[in-house]
Amino acid sequence: TGTFTYDPGFTSTASCESGLTYIDGDQGVLLHRGYPIGQLAEQSSFMEVAYLLLNGELPNGQELDKFNSTITRHTMLHEQLATFYRGFRRDAHPMAVMCGVAGALSAFYHDSTDITDPQQRMIASHRLIAKMPTIAAMAYKYSVGQPFLYPDNSLSYTGNFLRMTFGVPAEQYEVNPVVEKALDRIFILHADHEQNASTSTVRLAGSSGANPFACIAAGIACLWGPAHGGANEAALNMLHEIGRPERIPEFIARAKDKNDPFRLMGFGHRVYKNYDPRATVMQKTVREVFESLGVNDPVFEVALRLEELALKDDYFVEKKLFPNVDFYSGVILSAIGFPTTMFTALFALARTVGWVAQWNEMISDPEQKIGRPRQLYTGPTQRDYVPVGQR
Ligand code: CMC
Repeated sequence: TGTFTYDPGFTSTASCESGLTYIDGDQGVLLHRGYPIGQLAEQSSFMEVAYLLLNGELPNGQELDKFNSTITRHTMLHEQLATFYRGFRRDAHPMAVMCGVAGALSAFYHDSTDITDPQQRMIASHRLIAKMPTIAAMAYKYSVGQPFLYPDNSLSYTGNFLRMTFGVPAEQYEVNPVVEKALDRIFILHADHEQNASTSTVRLAGSSGANPFACIAAGIACLWGPAHGGANEAALNMLHEIGRPERIPEFIARAKDKNDPFRLMGFGHRVYKNYDPRATVMQKTVREVFESLGVNDPVFEVALRLEELALKDDYFVEKKLFPNVDFYSGVILSAIGFPTTMFTALFALARTVGWVAQWNEMISDPEQKIGRPRQLYTGPTQRDYVPVGQR
C-alpha cells in the first residue's frame, strides 16, 4: 500500500540538506564549506579542515591554537581500554578492532552521550577526532606484538599518530616532516565526501538518537567494505600484480573485455565523471614522499604509465573513467610503511571528522526525523497459519 519511489542504491534521492561539502562530478569539483579541496590539501592542515567542517568557518590563529589544544587534551584512551584490546586475537583485522573499540567508547565517556546537549555533542566530537589515531595505532601495535605507545602531545596530530604507530619505547622517534605533511594531506583528502555510504550510515544510526560513539562504530563497519574504503588496497595489489609497464596493455585489454570481470581498480567513480580532484594532489604527493624517503618503487612507474595509457584509450574516455583518490593513496601509504590492512583504518581515522560534522549538522536540524525508508513488498499475500504437524 502507498506510493513510493523505488530508488535502489539511492542514486537519485537526497536524504538531507547539508552545508558541508559540494561535489560537481561532471566538472571534477569538490568544495568543503566553499573551499576547493586542492587549496585545502596544499595550503591548510587536517586540524584546520576539521575545524572548518565542524564549525563552518576556517579558524583564525587563536581559534586554531585553542582547537589544537582541545583535541590534544583528549588523545589518551581510558586505561581500561587497553585491557579491551587484549581480548582480540593478534591477527584481528584493524577495522574489526576499530569497530569494537570505537563503539566501546560509549561505555567509558558517559558525560558526552546526551545528544540533546550541544556542549556534550561537541565534547564527544572532539573526543572521537582525538582518540581515533590512538585507537588505530594501538590496533597496529597489537597486531605486530609491540607495546602500545602513549600519545606525545608535543607533536602535531599527524606526527603523534606516526610516532604511536612506528615508534618503540626503546628509541627516540624522529618524525619525517615530508611524510608528516603527506599523511596530513591524505587525511584532508579523505575528511568528508558528502552522503557516501558510511556517512549515510552514521546519519541513519544517529537519526534514532543513538549515542555518537555507537554511530561512528556503524560508520566504520560500512567503510570496511571493498566497494567503499577497501579500494586503495585493491588498487595497490593490482599494481603489484601488473609488476612492469610492458604488461599494462594486457590488463587494459582485460578491463575492456565484457566477458572478464576484471576492472582497473582505482579507476572510475559513482559521482566523478571527470578527473577526481583528489587524485591530482595524490599523484604529486607520491613524488614528494618517494624523493624524501629515497624510495624507487616500480609500482609508481606502473601507475603513471597505466594512467597515461588508459586516458588515451577510447573505452576509458567514452565511459569517463578517470583515476580516483584511491589510485595513488595505496602507493604512498605503503612507501611510508603501513601494511595494506591499515589502509582502511587510516581512511576511517580521517573520515571521522566528516562523520561527526555531518552527525552534528543532522542533530541540530529542527527538521530532523528518524531515517525510515519504505519498500516495495514482493513476498506472499496474506495466508493462514498451518500447525507444524499438518505441513
Ligand atoms: N575498469 C573497467 N571498466 C569500468 C571500471 C573500471 N574501473 N569502472 C566502471 N567500468 C565500466 C563498467 O564495466 C560499466 O560498463 P558498461 O556500461 O559497458 O556495463 C561502466 O563503466 C559503468 O560502470 P558502473 O559500475 O555502472 O558505474 P558505477 O558508478 O556504479 O561504479 C565504481 C563506480 C567506483 C564502483 C566503479 O567505477 C569501479 O568498480 N571502480 C573500481 C573500484 C574503485 O576504484 N573504487 C573506488 C571508489 S572511490 C573511493 C570510495 O568511494 O570509497
